[in-house]
Amino acid sequence: MTNQFNIAVSAADAVADTEFLTALPKAELHLHLEGSLEPELMFKLAERNQIELPYASVEEIKKAYDFTNLQSFLDIYYQCAGVLIHEQDFYDLTWAYLQQCHAEGVVHVEPFFDPQTHTERGIDIGVVIKGITRALKDGEQKLGISYGLILCFLRHLPEDEAFATLNQAEPYMEHFIGVGLDSSEVGNPPEKFSEVFAEARRMGLKRVAHAGEEGPVSYIEGALDYLDVQRIDHGVRCTDSETMMNRLAAANMPLTVCPLSNTRLKVYEHMSQHPILKLLERGLCVTVNADDPAFFGGYLLANYQSLADNLGMTRQQAAHLAANSLNASFVGDEQKAVWMEKLAVVCAG
Ligand code: ADE
Ligand code: ZN
Repeated sequence: MTNQFNIAVSAADAVADTEFLTALPKAELHLHLEGSLEPELMFKLAERNQIELPYASVEEIKKAYDFTNLQSFLDIYYQCAGVLIHEQDFYDLTWAYLQQCHAEGVVHVEPFFDPQTHTERGIDIGVVIKGITRALKDGEQKLGISYGLILCFLRHLPEDEAFATLNQAEPYMEHFIGVGLDSSEVGNPPEKFSEVFAEARRMGLKRVAHAGEEGPVSYIEGALDYLDVQRIDHGVRCTDSETMMNRLAAANMPLTVCPLSNTRLKVYEHMSQHPILKLLERGLCVTVNADDPAFFGGYLLANYQSLADNLGMTRQQAAHLAANSLNASFVGDEQKAVWMEKLAVVCAG
């Protein structure tokens, strides 16, 4: 069944304003914690850990964030993550992100982390997971933001290294709910990771994968058919295929779309070309997400705001996108029903 939205929205056709967008209860389902590392915190951690950055100032770093495609971003992103060493660094990173979420009306997060970016540098996976989960627990207790952590495999590395990562993570299974697949997409199709995803499934883990960000529609197909994913991260290249759009709609397969990321990485030259609202109107379960907010110029609310500013996103469409984010999360139906009631109150107001 294609994606439905039955909640009544007052002034439904008015362009959504910031107050309404903030008040909507929202989930964020596509966020790389390493991508929420703000230049200010990067400098602070570099100093604390006595690491020399190739940038002299925050301004210089921001100037370097002039990306031409995914790889031009990833090269800098992995370099910046080098300041994260100790458990407390991962805590500080995650806690800063959660505080931003709290200010923006985010009620639930399912963030990604890239263990291989850190284990490759000799950092124990336990250090990474403990720091992140301590902050997530604090976020739940102090800010009321629920969570489910997702461990991503780097697809530019071989599958046996993904297996090794899953084995290293096994003692910490209680701290994460699923696995994902990220990094350089083109040339690294989902099939490359079919065995490790099958193992993750046997372990009872959820599965998501980046597909159809820069890569072709066949990668979306591969993620569905070989990795048995429950969500597609990005997936915007589905617009190249009527058959795929119909398949995604019929399966109500969530796409975790990242508008500011797509424009900053030149998937689209301008936000006015972004297809998210067309996909929504076509019955696909699209959601809004920030991807790597510290690098792409804005957190979740800025992504919603940009859709209102550049595509004239209405209150109805914004509420539908927020509902999709909650429904596409990996929480149980009871919690979803509580959120929908809260959403209905905001929509009526
Ligand atoms: N890692 C961090 N951000 C990413 C993106 N947008 N695509 C692939 N891998 C990533
Ligand atoms: Zn991503």
